[in-house]
Amino acid sequence: MENPTTQSRLLGEPHDVRRALQLLGELLTDSAATTESPESFIWRALGAPPTSLACESINTTAWAGVSLSAALNDLILKFEPTLGPAVSDQAPTWTQVRIDDETLSLPAATAAHFPAGTVAEIPVVIQIERNEYGDYDWDLRIFADPTRRADAREVLDELSRTAIEEKNFYRGRVVAVDLGLTLQWKIIDRPALRRDDLIIKPDVWSELDLNISALTDRAEVMRERGFSTRRGVLLAGPPGVGKSAIARVIAGELVGDFTVIIVDARAGASALRAVYRETERFGPTLVVLEDVDLYLGDRRRGDGGSALADFLAVMDGAEEYEEVLTIASTNDPAALDAAAVRSARFDSIITLGYPDQADRARILRRYLAGLDVDLDIEAIAAMLPDNVSGADLREIVRRALLAHGTDLTTERIRQVIKEGRWQPEPLQGSYL
Ligand SMILES: Nc1ncnc2c1ncn2[C@@H]1O[C@H](COP(=O)(O)OP(=O)(O)O)[C@@H](O)[C@H]1O
Ligand SMILES: [Mg+2]
Repeated sequence: MENPTTQSRLLGEPHDVRRALQLLGELLTDSAATTESPESFIWRALGAPPTSLACESINTTAWAGVSLSAALNDLILKFEPTLGPAVSDQAPTWTQVRIDDETLSLPAATAAHFPAGTVAEIPVVIQIERNEYGDYDWDLRIFADPTRRADAREVLDELSRTAIEEKNFYRGRVVAVDLGLTLQWKIIDRPALRRDDLIIKPDVWSELDLNISALTDRAEVMRERGFSTRRGVLLAGPPGVGKSAIARVIAGELVGDFTVIIVDARAGASALRAVYRETERFGPTLVVLEDVDLYLGDRRRGDGGSALADFLAVMDGAEEYEEVLTIASTNDPAALDAAAVRSARFDSIITLGYPDQADRARILRRYLAGLDVDLDIEAIAAMLPDNVSGADLREIVRRALLAHGTDLTTERIRQVIKEGRWQPEPLQGSYL
């Protein structure tokens, strides 16, 4: 009885049609809001289009961006602002960053509307955006009324201060940089290896110490006399003689006072400049460049590409990186460009050779230490050829332990050596 009346009233009367259209309009506006553009978000928040506002902005390196994002994240947690997009057609985006045992969830492409009386007297929109390509740098922008640009500037300065003073996660740590699908950097444990663990000629350590002192004991003297506190050491020698191990020992000694950045060959080839730019906020920094021969080719052979140009720029003073000690390693110094090796780039070139017979015995003893066995280690060392590396010796001991457990005899180790499988050989024939 009542239904037809209701229906006719809803649809029949001009007033109701208008209301329906209005609802439809609101619906459409709402759905438009869920695909909101960065511009319309700012417009709605601050009541004016972005082009008529003031924007204070900063561009940071990849790691500095993580700090800045963490500082912004604190403000977001504290004031719970309305969030919106910073990139067209993309929801506010957060990224996971692992710091020690903690995983931080940080804004990576997000806009936040802070009302008046929260981060500033006036309302502001803060946008943060991590660039997914190139150097993985970050942009942070603060939009505000153009007559109150100073207020926006203050917010930015405060964010930068918090980032450096409270969120400088990588400072004083060991960070490994490598290239997977994207550039990866992760904090790793302080290397446990000590000088005593390696059998290395003492003059290698004293030469390293001399270069390290330019950034430690002698830093003041050097600065006063106008000498640079940037140093570069090249460790050259065949594979397996302990170049990487030496760099790790030094890293373990310096970390804390120093920030340590270990760069593998693939990351070095693509991101050398980006890595050196990071060093500015880290205090004294040790940069370990592994196997530079893989990417600093020889120009005469035509394979010294942009990585070489980047290397020359960061090592040469065209870009000023003070308080940076670089320890690079190469298996093949002849493959390096003459310009890369010139003394201004490397203050010191340390050549490591294969261990002599006495050192072979010492290294074997080192890896057999703690085993209750009676071995003629001198005889074992004497039967090995001259081009046996520390890594080879370790592998011989490892294979002997795998084959015989701790029940080792001189004869059994001799047998392992004779089999020759401890020495990596090129594969023969087809295994497919
Ligand atoms: N002189 C050495 N004394 C003791 N161990 C060594 C020595 N040289 C190499 N090793 C062992 O071999 C491993 C691999 O050596 P590594 O430092 O990677 O060689 P490189 O970087 O010169 O190719 C080291 O971690 C260490 O265990
Ligand atoms: Mg190495």
